Amino acid sequence: MADTLPLTRTPASPEAAEAIRAAVRAATQMGDSRLARPEDARALLALLSDPAVHAPIYTLPRPLTQETVAMFIDTHLAEREAGIGLLFVREGEDGRVMGYSDVQVWPQWAAGELGGALHPSLHGKGTGGRGAAASFAWMFTALKLDLLCETAALTNVPTQRLLDGLGFRRMGEVTSVRPDGSTRASLVWEMTRAEWAARHGFD
Ligand SMILES: CC(C)(COP(=O)(O)OP(=O)(O)OC[C@H]1O[C@@H](n2cnc3c(N)ncnc32)[C@H](O)[C@@H]1OP(=O)(O)O)[C@@H](O)C(=O)NCCC(=O)NCCS
Repeated sequence: MADTLPLTRTPASPEAAEAIRAAVRAATQMGDSRLARPEDARALLALLSDPAVHAPIYTLPRPLTQETVAMFIDTHLAEREAGIGLLFVREGEDGRVMGYSDVQVWPQWAAGELGGALHPSLHGKGTGGRGAAASFAWMFTALKLDLLCETAALTNVPTQRLLDGLGFRRMGEVTSVRPDGSTRASLVWEMTRAEWAARHGFD
């Protein structure tokens, strides 16, 4: 995640920030996705290796190898212990990974970001839109966040439509930095808990 995010920074109380860290540490499941484990590296690499999956995402390791993907999983397990990050995988048949979700949290701002991808065989059927909506609602309720901040590449039309369609507000453009130091222009959206409640409600 870029250190320019979130754009809106409303300090959380120390108690609220600690409750968010505790919620992140306690999380094991998000919808039908479970926490990624070190032994998922091979199957996750198979998903990520497709350019239709990795090309639009600036947070993934470069190069993509089983070793760098294993480190990506390990980093997220450490982030979970610190209460600031979670990596989930959606298991398919035959041990395949059909999707992943990368949750990054800024407890001090009560804010978070969701990234991820689906297997290309699932693209364009509404699965991502429904899954993202459920994941955003989960981030507000289970992780007790007050703000979601999202980014997408200027060319990533499906993600732009998804975020616009859910009512996220466009906040402008930032430069995102990839793990290898290269950069990418990103559009930024934000959505507060109150805005989500007014538009979608909470079940
Ligand atoms: C982004 C992603 C999760 C969206 O999931 P999806 O199931 O393909 O998306 P949906 O079918 O729910 O469609 C979402 C919106 O994009 C539109 N869309 C889908 N595919 C499209 C395409 N190829 N071209 C233009 N618009 C497209 C849909 O019409 C929908 O917009 P609408 O609600 O205004 O009609 C998925 O495409 C993906 O994994 N992409 C690769 C990785 C990525 O970009 N991740 C997000 C950045 S972190």
